[in-house]
Amino acid sequence: MDSVIVLGIESTCDETGAAIVQGGRKILSNILASSADIHEKYGGVFPELACRRHIDAILPVIDEAIQTAGIIPPQIDLIAVAKGPGLVGALLIGMNAAKGLSIAWNKPLIGINHVEAHLYASMMDLETIPLPALGLVLSGGHTLLVRILDVGRYEPIGTTVDDAIGEAFDKVAALLDLPYPGGPHVERLAKKGNPKALSLSAGKVKRSPFDFSFSGLKTAVLYAVRGKKKVESADVAASFQETAFKDIVDKTSLARKTFPCQALFLGGGVCSNQHLRTLFAEKFPDLPIFWPPANLSLDNAAMIGGLGAKKFSGISDPLDLEVQARIPIA
Ligand code: KG4
Ligand code: ZN
Repeated sequence: MDSVIVLGIESTCDETGAAIVQGGRKILSNILASSADIHEKYGGVFPELACRRHIDAILPVIDEAIQTAGIIPPQIDLIAVAKGPGLVGALLIGMNAAKGLSIAWNKPLIGINHVEAHLYASMMDLETIPLPALGLVLSGGHTLLVRILDVGRYEPIGTTVDDAIGEAFDKVAALLDLPYPGGPHVERLAKKGNPKALSLSAGKVKRSPFDFSFSGLKTAVLYAVRGKKKVESADVAASFQETAFKDIVDKTSLARKTFPCQALFLGGGVCSNQHLRTLFAEKFPDLPIFWPPANLSLDNAAMIGGLGAKKFSGISDPLDLEVQARIPIA
C-alpha cells in the first residue's frame, strides 16, 4: 500500500474536489472548485444549484488533478469516492463519475465516509498514529466526538442533537449580516469584541453529557441582536464564539477523563479557527493535539483519496456502491 496511487473524489456538499494521493499520505494534487459564491445570497447551501455546479465541474476537476500530479490514468491503482454523508443529489454526481471511470479504466472503487475522512486529514502526515485517541469533527454539517481505536474502528461518544457547530456559526453570521460561509467572518469580528459582554450558555443534553446542542445558543443570539438593548456586533460574535467553543472544549475534557487516550485528532472546516486552537492548547497542555493542515480542514478530495488507500481491502462490483445521505461513523 506504500506506493498505491489513488484518485480521490469529493462532492458531498458545495465543493467539487479531486486529488491524487500516493501511499495514503503523499498528496500529488488536490483540486477544488467551490460553488460557495452562488450560495452566498441564500445564506446557506442551495442543493440544486450546488448539483448543477458539480455536474459542470466534476470532469474538469478530475482532469486537472491528474495533470497536476503529472500522471496518466493507467497509473491510478484505485478510485476512492465520498459516498456520504451529504446532499444526495451532490453525492450522486461524484459517485456516478467515479463508477463511470472505474468501469472505463478498469480500476477498483471504494466508497469513503466523508466524516471519517475529516478525521483522517489530521493523521495523514503521521507515520504511526498514537492510539487509542479521541477524535472531534467540527464542520458545517457535523459535530462529532468519537473514540478512535484504529483507523476504521471508532466508538461514537457524542454528537449534536440539533445544529452542527459550523451551521451555528453560519446562522449567527447571517443574524449579524455577515456573508456565507460565516465562520471566518465571525472569527474576524470576534477579535474586536468582548467575549464576556453577553451572558450566553450552550445547551446541555439530559442524560447525554457528551452530546451538543447549539440551537438555544443561536436563539439567544437572535434575541440579543433583535432586543431593545443595543449590543455591538463584535461583542455578540465574541460572546457566541467563546460560549460555543468552551462547551466543546469542556465536553472533550470530560471525554478525556472518561476514556483514557494518547492524543486528540480534529477535523472539519471549523478547525481553521485560530481561537479554537488556542483554547484547546490551553486546556490540554500535556496532550498531543493534531489539527488538519490548512488545505485539508475544509472539504477536499485528498482526505478521501488518503483514507481510500488505508481502507481498501478487496475488489467489489463498483455498481454495488450506493450513496448514503446519512451514515454513522461506526
Ligand atoms: O468541513 P466543511 O468544509 O464542510 C462540511 O463538511 O460541513 O466546513 C464548513 C464549515 C462552515 O460552516 C464554515 O462556516 C465553518 O466550517 N468555518 C469556520 C471557520 N472557517 C470555516 N467556523 C468557524 N471559524 C472559522 N474560521
Ligand atoms: Zn466536510
